Amino acid sequence: MRKHVKNNVSWVGWIDWELETFHGDDYSIRNGSSQNAYLIEEEKTVLIDTVWTPHRFDFVENLKKEIDLSKIDYIIANHGECDHSGALTALMDEIPNTPIYCTAAAVKSLEGQYGKRGWNFHVVKTGDTLDLGNGKQLVFMEMSMLHWPDSMATYLTGDNILFSNDAFGQHFAVEELFNDKADPCLLYKEALKYYVNILNPFSPLVAKKLMEIADLNLPIEIIAPSHGVIWRERPEQIVELYAKWANAYQEDQVIVVYDTMWEGTAKLAHRIAQELHSQSPDTVVKIFQLAKADKNEVMTEVFKSKAIAVGSPTVSNSYLSSVAGWLEFLKQLKFKGKKAAAFGCYGWSGESVKLLQEKLSEAGFEVVEESVRSLWNPEESDFSEIPALAKNLLGAEDSVPGALDNESEKMGQYQCGPCGYIYDPKKGDPDNGVAPGTPFEQLPEDWRCPVCGVGKELFEKR
Ligand code: FEO
Repeated sequence: MRKHVKNNVSWVGWIDWELETFHGDDYSIRNGSSQNAYLIEEEKTVLIDTVWTPHRFDFVENLKKEIDLSKIDYIIANHGECDHSGALTALMDEIPNTPIYCTAAAVKSLEGQYGKRGWNFHVVKTGDTLDLGNGKQLVFMEMSMLHWPDSMATYLTGDNILFSNDAFGQHFAVEELFNDKADPCLLYKEALKYYVNILNPFSPLVAKKLMEIADLNLPIEIIAPSHGVIWRERPEQIVELYAKWANAYQEDQVIVVYDTMWEGTAKLAHRIAQELHSQSPDTVVKIFQLAKADKNEVMTEVFKSKAIAVGSPTVSNSYLSSVAGWLEFLKQLKFKGKKAAAFGCYGWSGESVKLLQEKLSEAGFEVVEESVRSLWNPEESDFSEIPALAKNLLGAEDSVPGALDNESEKMGQYQCGPCGYIYDPKKGDPDNGVAPGTPFEQLPEDWRCPVCGVGKELFEKR
């Protein structure tokens, strides 16, 4: 079970070749996944993270074959989510007094999930260290909201390994463990899909955290995340990609996503795609039918796009349920700097296009004026607006951040980029000494988000 990483560091995790979905059924798994746990055996012995709950008993039995459990001096819980903490209950039944090093938020998270079991928590903050003997230390770095409030990374001096937990991970099973052994195309695809579907809402914080890590001036020879490959060949490549992805990333791509009842909206989708290609042959144009496509893959394509066109026929004064669910997910992922257009067929009332435009605006897209509505079956006369719509979408290089909600703007509300908390000046933040009626601009400079703890600079006006 043990796999050698470097010197006295071993991988002791779990590879899930058969996994098909993650986060319930919300994240599709196409190439397996892993939960990476690590054992460090210096003068002190340390376990970093565990595995997902269903594997907890196998994990403990496997670990017993590698080491006398009583020899574990410290457990590091970089993150409380159950794919990394799920084996703690079984493990702590064996070694109940072993210290667990984690953030204050992780104590709440672990006790919230598993109950107050009297575990021996040691709360750490950024810059705290733990001596392992043999001249080596662990250095802790809080990674709040990347992607939970409790997230943390741990750095091992001497071997220069950053155990980054979810950050820099991928849902990708690679038996040989290392990035230089993995199929590079699949690795890029899975790393990007993971970033888009899990970390993109926190992109402002990713950029800030990357700068903080750089400021620490720690030599990093290996990045060992908690899912997927360990980055030992040019580990900086994934850091460079994150820096690029965190900055309103887009390529020269426009996608058309739709669902259809009787093929009318499908016909519009294909006509729009043809026009996009005709006007800009070098632009990548793709079409996805939402009821049949993998939603996580489609979101990855949205991330790569400078603009999207979204279509649905009108049904029951609204749009199709497949489109409704997708739009909600689209809003959650907080894409920036992209344009959008709406289109759809109808038979009588015809509300879908207007409602789609409203939802796209709420999701932060700059919605273009042009739209396509077609009564019954689309005919040539229904396509007249498509050239102008395509032209506007293709001009997305000059796009601006998402449309503002006029009502919210008037009220002066600000939203936390990483966690979504909304500061409402009418309510203030009385728990932290901010009186109701205090405008965001007048908050003290050291005021922090009461949910995730980030500073004012990561808030955006709504
Ligand atoms: Fe891999 Fe946030 O758990």
